[in-house]
Amino acid sequence: MHDIIEQLEKKRAAARLGGGEKRIAAQHAKGKLTARERLELLLDEGSFEEWDMFVEHRCVEFGMADNRPPGDGVVTGYGMINGRLVFVFSQDFTVFGGALSEAHAEKICKVMDQAMKVGAPVIGLNDSGGARIQEGVASLGGYAEVFQRNVLASGVVPQISLIMGPCAGGAVYSPAMTDFIFMVKDSSYMFVTGPEVVKTVTHEEVTAEELGGALTHTSKSGVADLAFENDVEAIAMLRRFFNYLPLNNREKPPVRPSVDAADRTDLSLDTLVPDNPNQPYDIKELIFKVVDDGDFFELQPEHAKNIVIGFGRMDGRPVGIVANNPMVLAGCLDIKSSIKAARFVRFCDAFNIPVVTFVDVPGFMPGTSQEYGGIIKHGAKLLYAYAECTVPKVTVITRKAYGGAYDVMSSKHLRGDVNFSWPNAEIAVMGAKGAVEIIFREDKGDPAKLAAKEAEYKARFANPFVAGARGYIDDVIQPHETRKRICRSLAMLKDKKLDNPWRKHGNIPL
Ligand code: COA
Repeated sequence: MHDIIEQLEKKRAAARLGGGEKRIAAQHAKGKLTARERLELLLDEGSFEEWDMFVEHRCVEFGMADNRPPGDGVVTGYGMINGRLVFVFSQDFTVFGGALSEAHAEKICKVMDQAMKVGAPVIGLNDSGGARIQEGVASLGGYAEVFQRNVLASGVVPQISLIMGPCAGGAVYSPAMTDFIFMVKDSSYMFVTGPEVVKTVTHEEVTAEELGGALTHTSKSGVADLAFENDVEAIAMLRRFFNYLPLNNREKPPVRPSVDAADRTDLSLDTLVPDNPNQPYDIKELIFKVVDDGDFFELQPEHAKNIVIGFGRMDGRPVGIVANNPMVLAGCLDIKSSIKAARFVRFCDAFNIPVVTFVDVPGFMPGTSQEYGGIIKHGAKLLYAYAECTVPKVTVITRKAYGGAYDVMSSKHLRGDVNFSWPNAEIAVMGAKGAVEIIFREDKGDPAKLAAKEAEYKARFANPFVAGARGYIDDVIQPHETRKRICRSLAMLKDKKLDNPWRKHGNIPL
């Protein structure tokens, strides 16, 4: 027995060594941690339960028969993050560059299947050279098995990808299907085709970092949600992020009691909005001032900055926050911001997280690039997302709510539960100047008359009381009491139940 135990320990030690000391040193030299070191940081101490440490690939081509490192390039299992269950896989770049074989894929599929059975999130740490070239189609089949599970798990358990090295070709489509993608600066990249292929096909000269690095995907493409300086920061932030999420779609997100009083008022909010309606202000100041302890976890802060999304807590309960930002493009909705917010609203809806919306929107972005790019379809995504959303929805109009964008931004008509407005709000089809120029077109040469009509339009419509008179606004509130009123509304909505009609699935404009 003693010998057997010794053998087991030897086998385990070999598996723990992955691709060997030399390759581990090379991984460290790149500023990267190993697959196991990453899991040690991600999971609560001593909580990791590893599976399939002894799995080997079955490939015999190209000299692979004699090269079967135990574990086959991915460390899988489950553990805890702040005492809550999570399934994990962490690709080991020291073993065949973390390339995905049939057996490697089976290990990932096993944890995904189990996560679905018990209702727990899946976190993938990606660091891989892609499909295991020696295995050919068996490896491609492995990817597709993972993709299929990503899709079936979507909306059932949260799925998060942390890209910590290469992720190229077909490999990108598993993270792409997950709910959130975080990346590490300088050491990770994602692209469908690499710089060499790009050069051959389009004659563009571009580095891997420019093409698919963390900054590219968090600012230009919007593929990734956040970029971090290094492995340690990324993992620490992922642990924090995890605390906002429920384990599955049948649970509510975890409550974290706060000493920040739900009825706390903030007088500085009364002067947040400038008197001049065309002067911008930072909507994030409002967000920081209303959430518990000023703690707001923003997502995609560098992409489509005209809309702000992220998680906060109100009276201990996690909420998803969506807010137009007048600092960028005057807060207009455009293609990118509509897509950014729509996907976020859908995540919140799928996972029972109430949505709080702050509205200051002058309308949709005009222009040929927007129309040719399909703003009609993409703007419709946000409308669709809010309209199908059945979680509690609380909306506060802080200034402008014009035109179709008024409807889209969680209006009463899209089953907004509680819709507030600040007293200075302007809820109308468009701004007074534009409106008068259209309806009094014949007075174009008479600036005095137009000015009088503009003043009349403003007095008549540039306020929240027309909407209030119809019940589209439940109350006009003082800015300083915004937190209190939202917290009360959310408490009232705590056990809200609302179902959409049965259907196979809707057909969101894509
Ligand atoms: N299949 C099998 N082995 C792979 C692999 C793959 N897809 N990608 C990398 N490896 C192996 C390498 O052969 C090397 O093995 P070794 O340590 O025994 O020499 C090891 O992984 C590390 O790769 P290396 O190229 O030395 O690392 P790098 O950091 O310089 O480059 C990549 C990383 C991912 C850019 C590079 O390995 C690469 O281009 N891989 C192929 C990517 C690809 O075309 N994948 C298939 C399409 S999805």
